[in-house]
Amino acid sequence: MEKLLEKQIQTFKLTEEQELLRKTVREIAGDNFKEKAREIDKSHRFPRENFDLLAKLEMVGLTLPEAYGGGGMNYVSYAIVIEEIARVCATTSVILAAHLSLCSVPVSIFGSNVLKEKYLKKLAKGEYLGAFCLSEPGNGSDAAAMLTRAYDKCDHFILNGTKAWITNGSQADVYLVLAQTNPELKHKGVSAFIVEKNMPGVSFGKLEDKLGIRASATCQVRLDNVKVPKENLLGNIGDGFKIAMITLDGGRIGIAAQAIGIAQASYDLASSYAKTREAFGKKIISFQAIQFMLVEIATEIEAGRLLIYQAANMHDQGLKFTRQSAEAKLFCSELASKASNKAVQILGGYGYTTEYDAERYLRDAKITEIYEGTSEIQRIVIADNIIKELGAKN
Ligand code: CAA
Repeated sequence: MEKLLEKQIQTFKLTEEQELLRKTVREIAGDNFKEKAREIDKSHRFPRENFDLLAKLEMVGLTLPEAYGGGGMNYVSYAIVIEEIARVCATTSVILAAHLSLCSVPVSIFGSNVLKEKYLKKLAKGEYLGAFCLSEPGNGSDAAAMLTRAYDKCDHFILNGTKAWITNGSQADVYLVLAQTNPELKHKGVSAFIVEKNMPGVSFGKLEDKLGIRASATCQVRLDNVKVPKENLLGNIGDGFKIAMITLDGGRIGIAAQAIGIAQASYDLASSYAKTREAFGKKIISFQAIQFMLVEIATEIEAGRLLIYQAANMHDQGLKFTRQSAEAKLFCSELASKASNKAVQILGGYGYTTEYDAERYLRDAKITEIYEGTSEIQRIVIADNIIKELGAKN
């Protein structure tokens, strides 16, 4: 335990490469995504060119094995990249997070060599955009209660069902789909498949008209007698639920990082506004009421970032990090909502208009408390793990 803590503490100081990565991504995101963030929020236009630019800069396969064209980087670096992108465009950050941590990473961990050859290189290079299909219209938190069915037809599978709330939904090329192969077995009957957009029977619902993160092409993915080759089974029959849970453990680090990026952007905007805005003959930053709001946000951002690095670092060391990623996601997502709400408060009437970005941060923040497991689900995951650590029965 002491050794583990020692290692974690060392890693909390980012390496020179990681600091350089942060600086580089900050510049790229600032130059290319910042101005556009408002436009795509208004128009709901999916910014494929943002993904393509990240692909050109070799960031869409950041954590994938170098042997398959990935960057071979660790999850701390991944968290840094997602945070810096989210700081200017939360939509672009989740497009990358869903592609990388929810689709490409599980292919790299659980995929056969055939499947990796077929998909991983193209995912790593950004020739394919990935998506993750777990939720359905009638089930979200209760992930095992899915109705999508996969029938074994000897030399192929037939998939039927509707997946809902899919990030990159209509825009992806490749989908990781969870489907029931044996409903009697409940979660043990779930299997995972790779489905291509151009397979006959794949279609899409209308774009969801969302409060925030409005350009990530969220929609239903419908599967109507889709014929999927046998080799597109990810892992073994019945492995799907565990694949989904392990995938979400890693994915939640990304959403926590997205949330910290939104919180940081809110703090940056609120503090710079408070330095220039005057009331009662003084800059408003000189009032304790404003200072206390900023102090609270600044302190919690530091704490949230450390939770992310702890979870990412444990992931990188091959340790079990389910509890830590749920803690990071829970804390940072609630912080993103709080920080963006305070930013609107500090900007007053201006914060409530689209003249400033504070209202967008508030709208974007809310979903971080919902997707990849609601805050209530994170509390359940943390509680289950604490109970296991205590050796008690739930
Ligand atoms: N790692 C490995 N295995 C795990 C695991 C983990 N983190 N969590 C659970 N498991 C295993 C359990 O050990 C158990 O295994 P056995 O059968 O061998 O005993 C099995 O999975 C079932 O576990 P539970 O009994 O705990 O399962 P449950 O049905 O009670 O559900 C849950 C647990 C945590 C609530 C889960 O359903 C869950 O995470 N729900 C939330 C789903 C979610 O996050 N959805 C988000 C959709 S994706 C999205 O939003 C993407 C996007 O577009 C951005």
